[in-house]
Amino acid sequence: MATCMRHLLLTAAILGIAGAVPGRCDGSLYEQLGGSAGIHRIVDATLRRYFTDPRLHDDFDNVNQAWLQPRFETFICHVTDGPCRYRGRSMAASHRGLHIDQARFNAVVEDLQDGMDEAGLPFRLQNRLLARLAPMERDIVTR
Ligand code: HEM
Repeated sequence: MATCMRHLLLTAAILGIAGAVPGRCDGSLYEQLGGSAGIHRIVDATLRRYFTDPRLHDDFDNVNQAWLQPRFETFICHVTDGPCRYRGRSMAASHRGLHIDQARFNAVVEDLQDGMDEAGLPFRLQNRLLARLAPMERDIVTR
């Protein structure tokens, strides 16, 4: 985002129109989510819900949030074109043994939506993140 802003300001300076800068600093989805701090806020608010959601007790009872959180953050950073490389197990491998059905998958998506709301993410960006994750459903829902 900083590089993008610099570019816009430079363009404005060359054109002599500082203060009336056209164009947008969209950048990657990672940048629009607020970079690593923004993703941390989203994942923290979301995982707090996973770990207290009665619909997901059987799944997360034996998992530690401190273990899952950095993995989840790196994963989100990776799939939103951020600077991280997720080197963990594939979605199929890490969820295979959980025998996840559609209802629990939907519960996870709802908790993510509530987490994104809590983090103050605009609806348009929520949908862009969900669109990146949606195709993974076929690897995660196995029942
Ligand atoms: C698009 C949806 C989902 C994404 C992006 C996602 C992402 C992840 C990631 C990145 C990990 C860490 C894997 C590793 O590093 O080995 C993980 C683990 C885990 N996920 Fe998901 N997940 C999703 C859906 C779900 C659902 C629907 C459930 C349960 C209802 C679930 C339960 C778990 C559990 C229990 C673990 C820990 C597995 C272990 O202890 O090895 N996830 N998930």
